[in-house]
Amino acid sequence: MTQTGTAGGTAVEIRTGVGAGQPAPTPGGPEPELAVRSRGLRKTFRGTVAVDHVDLDVPAGCVLGMLGPNGSGKTTTIRMLLGLVRPTEGEVWLLGQAMPDGAAHALPRVGALVEGPGFHPYLSGPDNLRRVAAAEPLLPTKAINGAVADALERVGLTDARNRRYRAYSLGMKQRLGLAAALLVPRELVILDEPTNGLDPAGTREIRRVIAELHAAGTTVLVSSHLLSEVEATCTHVAVLHKGNVVAQGELAPLLEAGNPTLLVSTPAHTEAVEALRDNRIGVRIVADGLLVDLAGTSAPVVVETLVRAGVPVHEVRRQRADLEELFARLTESTPDTTEFSDSEGTR
Ligand SMILES: Nc1ncnc2c1ncn2[C@@H]1O[C@H](COP(=O)(O)OP(=O)(O)O)[C@@H](O)[C@H]1O
Ligand SMILES: [Mg+2]
Repeated sequence: MTQTGTAGGTAVEIRTGVGAGQPAPTPGGPEPELAVRSRGLRKTFRGTVAVDHVDLDVPAGCVLGMLGPNGSGKTTTIRMLLGLVRPTEGEVWLLGQAMPDGAAHALPRVGALVEGPGFHPYLSGPDNLRRVAAAEPLLPTKAINGAVADALERVGLTDARNRRYRAYSLGMKQRLGLAAALLVPRELVILDEPTNGLDPAGTREIRRVIAELHAAGTTVLVSSHLLSEVEATCTHVAVLHKGNVVAQGELAPLLEAGNPTLLVSTPAHTEAVEALRDNRIGVRIVADGLLVDLAGTSAPVVVETLVRAGVPVHEVRRQRADLEELFARLTESTPDTTEFSDSEGTR
């Protein structure tokens, strides 16, 4: 099913549930503009459904946030995308290659940070990275030391050079895993909760690395259980809930969805309301000031109207539908996953 709303003239599409509103799968053929595509991806562990019919589209060049609470199936999905776990059902294309057959061709172009990267506890970070680097098909032997140094620099691990991996903090382990994902230039980087265990400074650095990858044209798929994380770093989002993708699409239209309003702070309520209503602009008084309806008008017109009428404007703020609200709406009080898979009641 497809839900459509409008915000600033832009159509917003929120796809929900199984096979919702998407074009029919191309038989046997991936769409070249998608860095990752999955259809009907499902994983059960001894009868427990971890991931259920996930249809994921990750457009090339985007930063897609896979957002979901703990246990919603993010790691399992990512492991299936990377061919680390065999799907119970469903298909995956990675960089246009059908998995697992195309793994040898696709995986060297993919950098990944997933739980338990398997570093050697008694080797230092750099020595661990050299081992990983030696197994990179796209990295010539003589370029290994340079690539290791660059990757460590990029994730801010240069200080911890000689310490053994087992003495690393969780944050340092995360950084080393990220460094391994960045050893060679990648077309696609997949990061499973990369900010886990990091302090605010570390979190900022991860954001910077993601922004740099994006600027360089790399597609990034990053999972998180934190909305703020996704809001800060992503262009696209896929919301996972109990193993289902309950919404996916561009982030900006999702954030702008709903009725856009402007919160105006002024001591001259009466004059402001009069001036706006004279100009057929909808307004009502709320606790924090005046809530101006932006349907049929724009923020500059509202401000100009007020200023012309001699109304002192102290502050103007655009109110947006927070992803938080969307996330809460999508994930709260759902008795089971079928609620989202084919019913109309998601909004
Ligand atoms: N190897 C496993 N064996 C049994 N159950 C698993 C296994 N891996 C994951 N699960 C279950 O699958 C569900 C999804 O887990 P996971 O993919 O790790 O979610 P997330 O990464 O979003 O926290 C959870 O209920 C989890 O307990
Ligand atoms: Mg996980």
